[in-house]
Amino acid sequence: MEQKKKVFNVVEDMLKTSFGEKVRQRMFEELTNQEIIEFLKSQTDPFNSLMAYYKCALMEIETKFRVLNEEFSLQHDRNPIESIKTRLKSVDSIVEKMHRKNIPFSAKNIEENLTDIAGVRVICSFQEDIYFLASCLLGQDDVFLIEKKDYIANPKPNGYRSLHLIVETPIFLGSHKKMMKVEVQLRTIAMDFWASLEHKLKYKKNLEIAQLTKDLKECADESAVLDAKMDAIRKRIEQLQYETEESTEKND
Ligand code: GTP
Ligand code: MG
Repeated sequence: MEQKKKVFNVVEDMLKTSFGEKVRQRMFEELTNQEIIEFLKSQTDPFNSLMAYYKCALMEIETKFRVLNEEFSLQHDRNPIESIKTRLKSVDSIVEKMHRKNIPFSAKNIEENLTDIAGVRVICSFQEDIYFLASCLLGQDDVFLIEKKDYIANPKPNGYRSLHLIVETPIFLGSHKKMMKVEVQLRTIAMDFWASLEHKLKYKKNLEIAQLTKDLKECADESAVLDAKMDAIRKRIEQLQYETEESTEKND
C-alpha cells in the first residue's frame, strides 16, 4: 500500500509538471526498478487483456463471415465476399480518441466508451450481397445489434457509402464468456476503392480541397450507378442461367 501511494504521488507530481526527460529522471531517482515495473504492469495488464479479448472477437466475427461465404458459394456457385480485413485500433488512435472525448484512459473506460476497437471490413462483389450478409449475421443467436448506419441508403454528403454495424458477440474464455463489441463495415469493391482514395485526401493538408471534394463526390455518384448496373447484370445472368437449366430439364 505504502509503495503504491509513493508511486502514485510521483506520477501525480509528474502530471503537474511536464512529460519527458524530467519525468524519467524523477522516476529513476525515487523509485526502485521493481516499483516502476509493478506500476507499469498495473497500468498495462488490464489494457493488454482487453486488446486480446478484442482480437478474439475479431476472429469470431471473421469466422462467421467465412462460414457464410462458404455456404453461399456451395448454394450459388459464387462467392459473395471478395475479401475480409480485420484490424485492432492502434494504441495511438485509442489514446487520441479518448483524449478527444475527454475520457480518462483506462481499460474499463475504453470498453464502455469506444465501439470501434475491433474492426472487420467485408468487401463484397455486389451491393445486394452486403444486405444479404448483414441479415445473415444479425440473424445469428449470438450476435446482437447495437447500432446500424446505412450509408448506402443514405450516403454521407461527401459521397461515402458503406453499411456500418456495431455488434456485440460473446467470446468463450476458460471460465466464463465475455461480450465484446465489434464494428463491421460492409462495402462493395467500388465503395472500398472510393473510400481509400478519399481517405488519402483527408490527410493531405494545404491542397486545393474544394475541387477535389467535388470530383470525389462525382466519382461516388458514378460508382453508385456502376454498383447498381453490376447488380442488374448479375441478376440477368442468374435469371438466364435458371431459364436455361429449366428448359434443359424439360427436354431431358
Ligand atoms: P468515428 O469517430 O470516426 O468512429 O465516427 P463515427 O462514430 O461517427 O463512425 P462512423 O460509423 O460514421 O464511421 C466510422 C468509420 O467509417 C471511420 O473510422 C472510417 O473507417 C469509416 N468512414 C466513415 N466516414 C467516412 C468517410 O467519409 N470517408 C472514409 N474514407 N471513411 C469513412
Ligand atoms: Mg465509430
